[in-house]
Amino acid sequence: MSNEKLPVETLTELEAAAELAALASEIAHHDALYHGKDAPEISDAEYDALKKRNDALEVRFPHLVRADSPSKRVGATPLATFSAVTHARPMLSLDNVFSDEEASEFVASVYRFLGVLPDDSIALTAEPKIDGLSMSIRYEKRRLTVAATRGDGTTGENVTANVMTIADVPHTLPSDAPDVVEVRGEVYMAKSDFLALNAQMEADGKPLYVNPRNTASGSLRQLDAKVTAARRLKFFAYALGEVSEPLADTQWGIVQRFRDWGFPVNPLMARVHSVAELLAQYHRIGDERADLDYDIDGVVYKVDRLDLQERLGFRSRSPRWATAHKFPAEQAMTRLLGIDIQVGRTGALTPVARLEPITVGGVVVTNATLHNEDYIKGIGNSGEAIREARDIRVGDWVIVQRAGDVIPQIVDIVPEKRDAGAEPYVFPKTCPVCGSHAVREVNEKTGKADSVTRCTGGFVCRAQAVEHLKHFVSRNAFDIEGLGTKQIDFFFESEDPAMQIRTAPEIFTLGQRQQASLTKLENVDGFGRVSVTKLYDAIEARRDIALHRLIFALGIRHVGETTAKLLARSYGTYEAFEAGMKAAAEPGSEAWTELNAIDGIGEVVARSIVEFYKEPRNLAVVDKLLAEVRPQAAEQPKSEGSPVAGKTVVFTGSLEKMTRDEAKARAEALGAKVAGSVSKKTDIVVAGPGAGSKLDKARELGLQTMDEDEWLALIGG
Ligand code: IVH
Repeated sequence: MSNEKLPVETLTELEAAAELAALASEIAHHDALYHGKDAPEISDAEYDALKKRNDALEVRFPHLVRADSPSKRVGATPLATFSAVTHARPMLSLDNVFSDEEASEFVASVYRFLGVLPDDSIALTAEPKIDGLSMSIRYEKRRLTVAATRGDGTTGENVTANVMTIADVPHTLPSDAPDVVEVRGEVYMAKSDFLALNAQMEADGKPLYVNPRNTASGSLRQLDAKVTAARRLKFFAYALGEVSEPLADTQWGIVQRFRDWGFPVNPLMARVHSVAELLAQYHRIGDERADLDYDIDGVVYKVDRLDLQERLGFRSRSPRWATAHKFPAEQAMTRLLGIDIQVGRTGALTPVARLEPITVGGVVVTNATLHNEDYIKGIGNSGEAIREARDIRVGDWVIVQRAGDVIPQIVDIVPEKRDAGAEPYVFPKTCPVCGSHAVREVNEKTGKADSVTRCTGGFVCRAQAVEHLKHFVSRNAFDIEGLGTKQIDFFFESEDPAMQIRTAPEIFTLGQRQQASLTKLENVDGFGRVSVTKLYDAIEARRDIALHRLIFALGIRHVGETTAKLLARSYGTYEAFEAGMKAAAEPGSEAWTELNAIDGIGEVVARSIVEFYKEPRNLAVVDKLLAEVRPQAAEQPKSEGSPVAGKTVVFTGSLEKMTRDEAKARAEALGAKVAGSVSKKTDIVVAGPGAGSKLDKARELGLQTMDEDEWLALIGG
């Protein structure tokens, strides 16, 4: 259809719609060829002509712009065609604090962990938190070799060609740079460039971009580096990844080296020595925020000395030595049009506010969470007042708040603006999806009604089933590319046995069922041959699955990613885990004690897992799943050669050389498991002065015991 096209002006709407549909799939096809393999079927010029034609049609018929339009590809859906890069060191995220008090608590926690008295001896840096995309740029022998996005923190996308077009990023480093160095920082779009781009879009009659961050992300994560170049992205360097020889002793020193090598570094970064100075810098940066030509959403604090950073180490996803102090949330007023009830994976009924669209801090908000029944009523479950006991009614004027990435919420209403006839909201007593009773369970410990209302329908409830599937395929679970919310809804609703997916194991039988069927997925609107093949590949790739991902994917209540990792590490294999959970159903059993002894697993979590494994329907699904997938034995943390890898250690009594937290963190970093109580499975008990019953028990069981110095000698200082 590339020849002999009619002039756009002469097309009818129907013709235009048909041509736009054809162009969308044609361009997607060429995109796939171009990026998948170096096997394009058409020249760049022909490809550009297709895109131009698509643009021209969209300008003339703006209401026909398709959801999958090639023109939206930039700044919208990321393309899955970049190759993957495994980060030499994980790219972590940061914890957040939201007030001066929390910020000083962060500093106090650093002192506590290190066991240093708070005498202002620890220097910290304070620097703007740039609202862009984090990027790792690797140089080998002083030449830029790979640039990668953060991705899931472990694996990112290879966007080297695009990053090479950013003028701020040097392609070579001077001779004093080490052989291997990974410079990390933020790619962003200047506010002024964003406004200019949108002015151009408006003049061209094209849809506008939402904000600089998304536009920067879209500009980078698309496949034509020429487009990236045209977008004039910028870069700030602020952190170090892998490096073959030390650059400096401090964060401050590292950034100075970056600056000397020609990287832009943020001029508002400061080194401070007290909480007072830290907060002063936070407020100074906040005051300048509006005048900066780039978006920032807070101030990042980092312990300056790298040796202290090392000692502080990491929690599961974020360092203990840094945090982000966020700027206050942005608020706006709008009208509450209605309240919908969403049913989640665990049956929780969450009320969602439907709002008259309103821009809050640069983002259009149409929905906001209302949390639960009590929150709407304005009275908490201990009888305490929320918003001075003002309830929320449909039709009210409400204050909407958005902070960072969190879901917008309604923080208050404007009582003077309430209509006389407004009725209190009545929270449903039944599940709006399956009609089962919805109840507020009574907390055994407190005797109070839980604030969450839950559907009792379990497996019967379609909403729970569908949400469960979405959780199963989500990023930190099975992470099946091409199987997102939209696709799950489609497969779940399908009545065709060759296409239906209602439970997780059916994901893995889809391919087989399709082969045997005449109704083909690739003929379904929105799929197509290329995406179907990709989907099968993505599914196949997950038949070997990390144990912690499998455990997390099961969707057991209270078992988040961190708990799943703890379980995987403790039990090692899926068989051992399941056997352990079944055995733990016996109250007082050794298995139950063991489960509870895992540091970080409390009784509520333990009980929830055991309950899950008591339910025959859960077991049936798990068995089917295990017929399809192969859970991998849990990786022991990279600690080969560590004398304590895989050992279970209990610390008891007081420690004198380091705090309990630091001792635990170091032991874990060396691959040991740290338990809270002594059992037959304990390998080593480290007892300090004042050790009591745990030490007695260890002796009784004939376990290896040692004092702190012996422990330090064992782990090498
Ligand atoms: S340091 C281990 N410094 O914030 C800490 N991050 O929530 C590594 N960010 O993914 C990050 N400005 O994209 C650091 N001055 C700054 C930052 C910054 C923005 C982003 C970064 C990271 C996210 C963490």
